[in-house]
Amino acid sequence: ELARNEDLATLIRTIPDYPTAGILFRDVSTLLLDGRGFRAAIDRMIATIDPVDIDLIAGIEARGFIVASAMSYALAKGKIMLRKPGKLPGNVVGMDYALEYGTDRLEMHVGAVSPGQKVLIVDDLIATGGTAQAGVALLRGQGALVLQARFLVDLPDLGGGDRLRAQGIETDALCS
Ligand code: PRP
Ligand code: HPA
Repeated sequence: ELARNEDLATLIRTIPDYPTAGILFRDVSTLLLDGRGFRAAIDRMIATIDPVDIDLIAGIEARGFIVASAMSYALAKGKIMLRKPGKLPGNVVGMDYALEYGTDRLEMHVGAVSPGQKVLIVDDLIATGGTAQAGVALLRGQGALVLQARFLVDLPDLGGGDRLRAQGIETDALCS
């Protein structure tokens, strides 16, 4: 059995120099391969959420969808897809952002969230926080209340978690 979060951390491998030289890439695919490990991870993440505090879960493409989907199922909350560009068929709003290794863009459907709804933002990992902050900006731009964020992994040296906290978002991760 996985007794502690440190045991879960051992299921996440680190690959040097991916996708570019100098990046130590934390690869959650090895945790996803471990069915009991993944269930333990999701169980621990949902244990940090009071269901009355959220109306919807927003997951970030692509790896964030895996985590957000499991949490959405367990908590019986609906979910919003924050997608990479050009994937959503309806009217969208979008936001460009900087990554540790390049730039990208997130989009969401207009109307996915109603003003005043409480949204939990979920991804597999937070590094600089640029991706999550783009998601927060899109959601808040549509009137959502974004008060909580959850990740499997936080890379605290890159400051993303602190950037979210500075925006009034309670932020937690299973391991760092
Ligand atoms: C990774 C990760 C987060 C983001 C974290 O996704 O899943 O979404 O980067 O970095 P940040 O905190 O510095 O913004 P990536 O863009 O590699 O996409 P993927 O999930 O489609 O693989
Ligand atoms: N692993 C996975 N995704 C990432 C990382 C990482 O180390 N850094 C930024 N996005």
